[in-house]
Amino acid sequence: MSIAALFAPLDLGHGLVLPNRVLLAPCTRNRASADLGPSAGAAAYYAARADAGLLVTEAVLVTAQAQGYLDTPGLFLDAHVPAWRRVCDAVHARGGRIFAQLWHTGRLAHSHWARAQPVAPSAVLDPILRRQAGGVELYNEMPRALATEEVPQVVELFRAAARRAREAGFDGVEVHGANGYLVEQFLRAHTNRRTDAWGGSVEGRLRFALEVVRACVGVWGPGRVGLRLSPAAYFGEMRWTPGDNEVYVELLRRVRDLALAYVHTGVVEDRVYEELGCTSTQFLRRHWGGVLVANGAYVPARAQQAVASGACDLVSFGRSFIANPDLVERLRQGQPLVEYRPEMTKALQ
Ligand SMILES: Cc1cc2nc3c(=O)[nH]c(=O)nc-3n(C[C@H](O)[C@H](O)[C@H](O)COP(=O)(O)O)c2cc1C
Repeated sequence: MSIAALFAPLDLGHGLVLPNRVLLAPCTRNRASADLGPSAGAAAYYAARADAGLLVTEAVLVTAQAQGYLDTPGLFLDAHVPAWRRVCDAVHARGGRIFAQLWHTGRLAHSHWARAQPVAPSAVLDPILRRQAGGVELYNEMPRALATEEVPQVVELFRAAARRAREAGFDGVEVHGANGYLVEQFLRAHTNRRTDAWGGSVEGRLRFALEVVRACVGVWGPGRVGLRLSPAAYFGEMRWTPGDNEVYVELLRRVRDLALAYVHTGVVEDRVYEELGCTSTQFLRRHWGGVLVANGAYVPARAQQAVASGACDLVSFGRSFIANPDLVERLRQGQPLVEYRPEMTKALQ
């Protein structure tokens, strides 16, 4: 198998040239420091993977009130800036590029960590056991619907985190609009039952995502903001309801003018979904003409084929990049990959 397509450089414009098409997918590692800065080992962890075309960090909280998992880092304190700068410096010293993935969990926050009731577009609870912490069983909690005037304040949290990411020396940010978290909760009919300007119509449901992306582009300028979406995937007890398609299609149309760096699929497995009639990446490709990152259980041959055929421009790897810090070199040499095992991650889910 030729892996040439994966090793063709890609010029994203605006001063960002990726030497290859392999991305580190954002992967939460549950190792943040006590004040929710990056872990002591984060600089070495990311630097070890700096030969990727682009690294995307683990999801990074825009507020302490959004914490829904053990030891996940943030960019909501000024003290987080120098800590992340050490990570960025280590990656840059190895010649790499790194985006911070900005994250609000919405209804998937938990008072066990956040010390507050989760907030969400609407008070919709899917009451299932999510995880354990120190032997304690935690269930999803009933979220509080954000008041109309609170929603812009949450957009401001993303803007502030985007600014801190700039100060820290990142190369850009990725808006986490995937996997059932707050941005996606606004997009989907299942979790957005609002009747104000932040819900109801297609326009209302996409407004929060669009405002967050605009805020980040406002801070970063063109070519430095990515957007992750998971059309049809059910992570976080999410549903796909008839009509959701329209919201995604219109959102992808509306972000066209914002000079995004890329749109990024976020799915566990990029397979055909009945409700889309295609894979999540195919859905995005159909409605998004810009740079597209495929993701979801890609093996090297499929990744090569996807880039070579134009099905996507880049491919991100999560589990195989956790298991193989030298993934890029293994791909280049055609060497077998170490298989990912859940014990490799300190996640308690
Ligand atoms: C341990 C672990 C942590 C993850 N954390 C995140 C995250 O913080 N943000 C995110 O968007 N996706 C996260 N994901 C999803 C991955 O980015 C990716 O979409 C998924 O693992 C499928 O890609 P893969 O088959 O290459 O692993 C995580 C996945 C794993 C396995």
